[in-house]
Amino acid sequence: MLLFANICLKIATLATICGILSQLQVAGAAAPAGSVQQLPQRIYNLLHQLSCGRKLNASAKFALLLAEFLIKQKMRYITPTRYDRQLYYQLLHKMKQLGSCASQGEINQVQELILRNAFQRNVLLLPPNLKYGALNANAEYEQLALSYDSLVSQGAPNRTQSDLCMRDIVNLDTSKCQLSLNCLELLTSEAPAYGYQRTHQALLLYMLQHHICAPSLSPPQLYEELAKGHCNEILSEQNAIRSLALGLGKYKDLYLEQATICGLWGYNEFLNWRNVMEIDSWRKEEEQQEGEEEEEREHIKDLSLVFYINALLLLH
Ligand SMILES: *[C@@H]1O[C@H](CO)[C@@H](O)[C@H](O)[C@H]1NC(C)=O
Ligand SMILES: *[C@@H]1O[C@H](CO)[C@@H](O)[C@H](O)[C@H]1NC(C)=O
Repeated sequence: MLLFANICLKIATLATICGILSQLQVAGAAAPAGSVQQLPQRIYNLLHQLSCGRKLNASAKFALLLAEFLIKQKMRYITPTRYDRQLYYQLLHKMKQLGSCASQGEINQVQELILRNAFQRNVLLLPPNLKYGALNANAEYEQLALSYDSLVSQGAPNRTQSDLCMRDIVNLDTSKCQLSLNCLELLTSEAPAYGYQRTHQALLLYMLQHHICAPSLSPPQLYEELAKGHCNEILSEQNAIRSLALGLGKYKDLYLEQATICGLWGYNEFLNWRNVMEIDSWRKEEEQQEGEEEEEREHIKDLSLVFYINALLLLH
């Protein structure tokens, strides 16, 4: 970024063009200069903040498992350069250390079953890919924005249902591959859902798609189709959140969860440099003001770790 700014300053007559260019770069596919190098550093900083002293609860541990899985999946399909390989191994090493820290937060029995198996056993690795323009970017969201505050808590699954379904997915018996009815219903439901309920549907689907039982449960295109449906809805929600006066202040955590989960599915509408910069700017704000709730900040860190690592792997 800095270098870019310098050139703009020197060639004064071109300043306006540079201004336009840098905006385009932020919004488009190209990486703003500087961000690319900074991404690994941001991830190191985050990992540092997640250090052993802090109590890792279920969602922090889950984030570490997911991040590790993403790196391994990428390495399996795309031979890394020597630099990348070194970086990936350093990250994996650091995450392994963190994951094995003794100090744990409260983790219930269902969560324990999830953490023992998720992304570690019976996984199906799939080639990672970034999908451009697959979603409907022009969907209506003004109506949604008007009633978003009351809609956001509607739909299924709630946290308990989501944990139970996740447990069923990661503990599928690979000789039968029979998923519980409750979970199947959740995953195929067409009932309206918003907020975390919708993101959890998309996450559960992602986990099922990466289980070795996935191909025997349904054809691969079906997972993609269902995910596209979810992420199209989620994109409208993000637009609604952006259009609300206090939207991004109020729904930061949700916004990041939406970007992270639809980013896992590779949708460029979520996984892009604009979002990397946006999320980065929140972190800078937070370092300055201590007002926000500790809890929410911690969850934002867990999510950002997954978001940044996915960005490192797919946008780099
Ligand atoms: C979650 O939803 C189920 C089914 O509707 C309900 O029985 C349960 O009480 C809900 N749990 C919470 C924590 O809201
Ligand atoms: C884990 O802790 C964070 C805050 O530290 C909280 O926001 C989140 O809801 C917790 N998750 C679980 C599954 O307990």
